[in-house]
Amino acid sequence: MNEFHSDFEIVAREDFSDVTFMLEVRHPMMARAAKPGQFVIVTSHPDGERIPLTIADFDAARGTITLVIQAVGKTTLEMKETCRVGTHLYGLAGPMGIPSHLGNSKKVICVGGGLGVAPVYPQARALKESGAYVIGVLGFRTKDLIFWDEKFRNICDELIVCTDDGSAGLHGFVTDGIRKALEVHDDIDEVVAIGPPMMMKACCDATREAGIKTMVSLNPIMVDGTGMCGGCRVKVGEIVKFACVDGPDFDGHQVDFDDLMVRLRRYKEEEAAATKRWSETCRMTQV
Ligand SMILES: Cc1cc2nc3c(=O)[nH]c(=O)nc-3n(C[C@H](O)[C@H](O)[C@H](O)COP(=O)(O)OP(=O)(O)OC[C@H]3O[C@@H](n4cnc5c(N)ncnc54)[C@H](O)[C@@H]3O)c2cc1C
Ligand code: FES
Repeated sequence: MNEFHSDFEIVAREDFSDVTFMLEVRHPMMARAAKPGQFVIVTSHPDGERIPLTIADFDAARGTITLVIQAVGKTTLEMKETCRVGTHLYGLAGPMGIPSHLGNSKKVICVGGGLGVAPVYPQARALKESGAYVIGVLGFRTKDLIFWDEKFRNICDELIVCTDDGSAGLHGFVTDGIRKALEVHDDIDEVVAIGPPMMMKACCDATREAGIKTMVSLNPIMVDGTGMCGGCRVKVGEIVKFACVDGPDFDGHQVDFDDLMVRLRRYKEEEAAATKRWSETCRMTQV
């Protein structure tokens, strides 16, 4: 359990699967200030690493923001163990990043792949509130991993859920969902796609020929989140941008996804060693 005190109390938690969980955290000022597309930098305990997480939802009336987290390494695995209702996050900086530009699009496809379903939600909701016709395309590996489909159904004019193994909805990837929507609608103004880099790259390939504007949210390794360290540099149309202050949303047709994927793998060995060290210490404390 986290034994320090801060103002950032975890007021709700829901586990969507063995690795993905939702935390609702009290922060009234952040809940009032947050805009779709922005992120926070979280430190879960005084000795913890600072990690960027997207604001997946915010509720000014409740004074809370919502984070959806996938446990992939040391810090997120640790948070899965320690972040319980009634405990506190040690640090919560934000909202950071440029809010998503909602523009004047009248008909939009909002695509979320796996964990990307959470960060695309605030954009889909804001587009709906601005009067756009919103088609949601959500992709998961299998039926048991599906989350927030009802939440999307409430704000989308149409919803296409896809599973890689065909256990629910359309059998296929989100790109199949995009193609299905494009068969019916020849007047899509914009696609918003959020998920793993490979998925966002495939979505951009699916819309390139038709020339449909496609916005993606990039997740390079971030350190300070304020444009100082240069860690989050990404190539967009041969220009180097810092995702934390110039993004994280960019025109997907301009993004060099291969460069992003190489940079994301840069510290694999160190990350694996940190996870191993943490899991061994964790087991020792349980003996
Ligand atoms: C703008 C932005 C928003 C994000 N939103 C979410 C979200 O809503 N939910 C979620 O689960 N994850 C999100 N991430 C990714 C999340 O920050 C990483 O999964 C987390 O930092 C991994 O830390 P770890 O110690 O658990 O794993 P590690 O073993 O340290 O890393 C696992 C992988 O996570 C990535 N990663 C590691 N450190 C960082 C870092 N400092 N910044 C970015 N990526 C990193 C790398 O690809 C790495 O290979 C977001 C990243 C960015 C940049
Ligand atoms: S995280 Fe340091 S410049 Fe973006």
